[in-house]
Amino acid sequence: MKRIGVLTSGGDSPGMNAAVRAVVRCGLDRGMEVYGIYRGYEGLLDAELKQMERGNVGDILQRGGTILKTARSKRFQTEEGIERAMSVLDTFKIDGLVVVGGDGSLHGGLELSKRGMPVMGVPGTIDNDLAYTDYTIGFDTAVTTVLDAISKLRDTSSAHERVVIVEVMGRRCGDIAMYAGLAGGAEEVLVPERPSDIKEVCRKIIESANRGKQHHIIIKAEGVDIPTMDIAREIQEVTGRETKQVVLSYLQRGGSPTMRDRLLATLCGAKAVELLEKDSESKAIGTVNGHIIAEDLEEALEETREFDTGLYELIGVLGK
Ligand code: F6P
Repeated sequence: MKRIGVLTSGGDSPGMNAAVRAVVRCGLDRGMEVYGIYRGYEGLLDAELKQMERGNVGDILQRGGTILKTARSKRFQTEEGIERAMSVLDTFKIDGLVVVGGDGSLHGGLELSKRGMPVMGVPGTIDNDLAYTDYTIGFDTAVTTVLDAISKLRDTSSAHERVVIVEVMGRRCGDIAMYAGLAGGAEEVLVPERPSDIKEVCRKIIESANRGKQHHIIIKAEGVDIPTMDIAREIQEVTGRETKQVVLSYLQRGGSPTMRDRLLATLCGAKAVELLEKDSESKAIGTVNGHIIAEDLEEALEETREFDTGLYELIGVLGK
């Protein structure tokens, strides 16, 4: 393996830069040529590749976003697009590719892999929705951002004796909501993996308000089908408590990555290069029980996530 490419794709996540840095520097250290591919698969189709040197990835470890830029490419999701991507990789004589991104991006990598390109998938998404890995790069930072918001919202909610619903990201996965709810001491967490019973939420608010609780923090994952505004209206009507909503949105995707995200990204990036040097089959890289693992890419993407019922129930117990 002489020449490898690296791209970041899909929604950006804090730690993507740390992964790119590790791929570039570990690749150079092993005598490879490393090409950065800009704007994900979109840039690959437009042949936006640049040879990277150590200095190109200096001063990025601590930065959110991605210096390679990212995109959600519709063009790539067609047979024609995938063939075009293979032809660009061939023109640049790329022998192996590292894809840093979420589920859709790694599936894109799988398509290239099926056409003969060795692909290493590095899990870069705040959503934590990939079944084969315990954590994805950016998740820890996103939850930390939500925790900061919860602390601030608790102050003002207590002062006004209000209910606040904090809507967080995660696509169809409730992990950001659950981890932030548990670590932030939310009274209630609503996730797409479990039905949301708003009447029961109202009952609990009334009960705990009668016991003297001054604030009620509800974390709602964006994947829950009921609009946040409707939930807020119902709670206010039924409980008589003023209810506000805060949608954290893209705030969760920015910011300097935490130690955990930097470390995970660095170790996954290094592992990807190590495997590409061995001319390995395509793999999905991640972490299981604190160890860096590499699984067959296709098999890893077929795994289904198990919902952590224990964690969910604990939130209910602690938030009463
Ligand atoms: O996958 C990451 C994510 O931030 C999701 O949590 C969210 O649903 C989505 O991306 C938003 O995507 P976009 O940046 O295209 O609006």
